[in-house]
Amino acid sequence: MKIVILLGAPGSGKGTVAARLTAGDAALRHVSSGDLLRDAVRRRTSAGVEAEGYMKSGALVPDKIIAQMVGDLIAGLDAGETVLLDGFPRNTDQAATLDVTLAGCGGEISAVVQLEVPDEVIVERIAGRRSCPKCGAGYHVSFLPPKQEGVCDACGAELVTRKDDNPETVKNRLAVYREQTFPLVAFYGARDLVRKVDGLGYPDEVAERVRKVLP
Ligand code: AP5
Repeated sequence: MKIVILLGAPGSGKGTVAARLTAGDAALRHVSSGDLLRDAVRRRTSAGVEAEGYMKSGALVPDKIIAQMVGDLIAGLDAGETVLLDGFPRNTDQAATLDVTLAGCGGEISAVVQLEVPDEVIVERIAGRRSCPKCGAGYHVSFLPPKQEGVCDACGAELVTRKDDNPETVKNRLAVYREQTFPLVAFYGARDLVRKVDGLGYPDEVAERVRKVLP
């Protein structure tokens, strides 16, 4: 199993790029830690109930909760799959746990894609984000609007604004990214795995840039 880690600040476009790369490519699988957690919160599992407060404030949920979810999912995948891992790891402890998980299933990290987007663009992107609660499709009111306002193109469900997309929480999420997640650039840089990609431009252009740096 090959793992490509998508690393970038909140709103840098990780989910948008992953959706484009996986569309029509059955060999690529998108695994988003945020989606796993939001699903657990919706289903009121014990992990979801515990995670909810952390997510609302923009803090990281405890490592053991998310590491267990991602680890279980990875362990159930086929050895031949390539996984786009979006949102995990988020700190060096999670990165160490991922190494142990991959050693146990013969997987390897083949690249860490660092999406670079300035903070002012991030704030604009997050302010206009809308998501489909049913199929997970992502939109932006200006940059990537649905055909019909407020309605998902893919499944017709009513689009929602994520609870953690308010200005106060976004400020905290950006600070958490800088303090806890950004050090992963050096962590994986020491293994020569980091591929920096300019995250500005149309989503298709950004996805193409990412495709070009994949091994
Ligand atoms: P998570 O869901 O992972 O959120 P995030 O990292 O903050 O990232 P986002 O989903 O906000 O952004 P994205 O980069 O995917 O951008 P998107 O493509 O949507 O995590 C949420 C919370 O869960 C965390 O705060 C934490 O509490 C918890 N959590 C998750 N993982 C964890 C872990 N490992 N450990 C502990 N806690 C964890 O794009 C954003 C917007 O911009 C969209 O509207 C999109 O349409 C638009 N857009 C995208 N690309 C472009 C473009 N090129 N041009 C114009 N608009 C664009």
